Amino acid sequence: MLDRISALAMVHKTLHHSPDIRRFDLGTFARGLVQDVLALSGRENIKVIDCIEEVDVEATHATALGLILNELLTNTIKHAFANGRPGHVQIAVRRENNEVVIEIFDDGPGFDPGAVQGKTLGRKLIERLSHQLDGTTKWTSSGEGTTSITRIQSDPIS
Ligand SMILES: Nc1ncnc2c1ncn2[C@@H]1O[C@H](COP(=O)(O)OP(=O)(O)O)[C@@H](O)[C@H]1O
Ligand SMILES: [Mg+2]
Repeated sequence: MLDRISALAMVHKTLHHSPDIRRFDLGTFARGLVQDVLALSGRENIKVIDCIEEVDVEATHATALGLILNELLTNTIKHAFANGRPGHVQIAVRRENNEVVIEIFDDGPGFDPGAVQGKTLGRKLIERLSHQLDGTTKWTSSGEGTTSITRIQSDPIS
């Protein structure tokens, strides 16, 4: 799992290597982050289903999106697959017209997304950063697993 500072460092490294400093390739970043988060967790019984497309966003959105992704992925490893529980996590990143969509599905035990006392720093950060990008993150969860859908406003870059 990546702490917040390391996630930020990774965003900056990606931006630094970008051929065009105005754009940030969220898809490639997401794929690298998934690999790093999983490798650092040392877990071998979590299977990743990659539905990540190449999506360019404005570089000014990179930090917020990178932190949102890191919090969501870390929650999946930490909570959905706690105590060595094996499972699957599906990650989708795609553009839908003027929106960028990040969808993360796990087959963990689920939780109650409406429980106010369950909203600690990670989820508050995700919600605030989504808001900052004129978007939302919504969770649906049951005994079958958890899905989070993040939608943010992002005009295609020509
Ligand atoms: N994918 C998930 N599967 C199961 N529980 C989750 C998941 N994501 C979040 N949670 C629950 O929501 C709580 C709040 O998450 P968060 O605000 O990130 O805080 P933290 O990760 O520090 O506990 C978690 O403690 C956990 O109980
Ligand atoms: Mg968390």
